[in-house]
Amino acid sequence: MPPLAPSPSSLSAAIQALREGRLVGLPTETVYGLAADATNSAAVAAVYAAKGRPAFNPLIAHVPDVEAARNEGVFDHRADALAKALWPGPLTLVLPVRESASVIPLARAGLDTIALRVPAHEIARAVLAGLGRPVAAPSANRSGHVSPTTAAHVIADLGDRVALVLDGGPSVGGLESTVVGLVDGTARLLRPGAIPRAAIEALIGPLGAATDHENRPMSPGLLARHYATRTPLRLDAVDVRPGEVVLGFGGLPPGAHGLDLSPSGDTVEAAANLYAHLRALDALGAAAIAVAPIPAEGLGEAIRDRLERAARG
Ligand code: TXA
Ligand code: MG
Repeated sequence: MPPLAPSPSSLSAAIQALREGRLVGLPTETVYGLAADATNSAAVAAVYAAKGRPAFNPLIAHVPDVEAARNEGVFDHRADALAKALWPGPLTLVLPVRESASVIPLARAGLDTIALRVPAHEIARAVLAGLGRPVAAPSANRSGHVSPTTAAHVIADLGDRVALVLDGGPSVGGLESTVVGLVDGTARLLRPGAIPRAAIEALIGPLGAATDHENRPMSPGLLARHYATRTPLRLDAVDVRPGEVVLGFGGLPPGAHGLDLSPSGDTVEAAANLYAHLRALDALGAAAIAVAPIPAEGLGEAIRDRLERAARG
């Protein structure tokens, strides 16, 4: 089934499908999401089944505005400050769940916390406003695989599982939202992402680690295998070995076969290209993908996080 161009009729078809408990491929400014009505247990169960996602890994609830978010989670002064400055946008807040929340426990993997995000993408916003309920939307890839940044990626991974895919063109950001936890008195960076750490720390001060006092990860997503290509990755490669293709940054080595994340060495451009380039290089069936060193500044922290987790897979 081909993706649908955004129009009043494709938007109402998407809203109707969600209302009926079916799944929709939905563009956001970060990556494409696999959207379901977060108040419908059959729909949310279908998300876990379609992705092959472990049931311990909770979903992000997407809402149209901060008022809707306040119905689901408990905001402290730091959550207020972050929401005011960065929503709509690629920030997810993990907050204590409200007793009266409409998002069902299955979408939260049974936790007493909830992940909330107000996306900026026009199509996502139109669907949220039309549905009038929170939408659970993990990245629309098979669990463990590279995230989707085009409608074609969604169809390749999950085409048989969705009622339809809305085509919003290539994702502008290309990296998932930054996840900040505000549940135990310490603000924690649970997942580096599309908003650099420095932008968040400028608003609420230094962020704590994503591990607790016993060094256990505080976000279930950190436990799962992620972002993996079938082809092995070799990180911080300074040479090219026989049979390898190159994921470059700031120029490909002479004679090398591969793709450059950003010829000018810009981490914003590299983020937008990361997943599409990984998918394209993976399709070549090379012995390995040699990944050029990427600086850890700005979006480099999140890019390196994704590559390190892909290499572990
Ligand atoms: O940009 C994004 O965030 C995209 C788009 C579609 O919005 N969504 C996305 O969802 O990346 P997903 O499911 O691929 O990643 C959600 C992350 C996971 O690492 C999950 O463990 C974490 O958020 N998360 C969700 N609820 C949580 C909670 N209550 N406590 C801690 N971590 C949570
Ligand atoms: Mg994901």
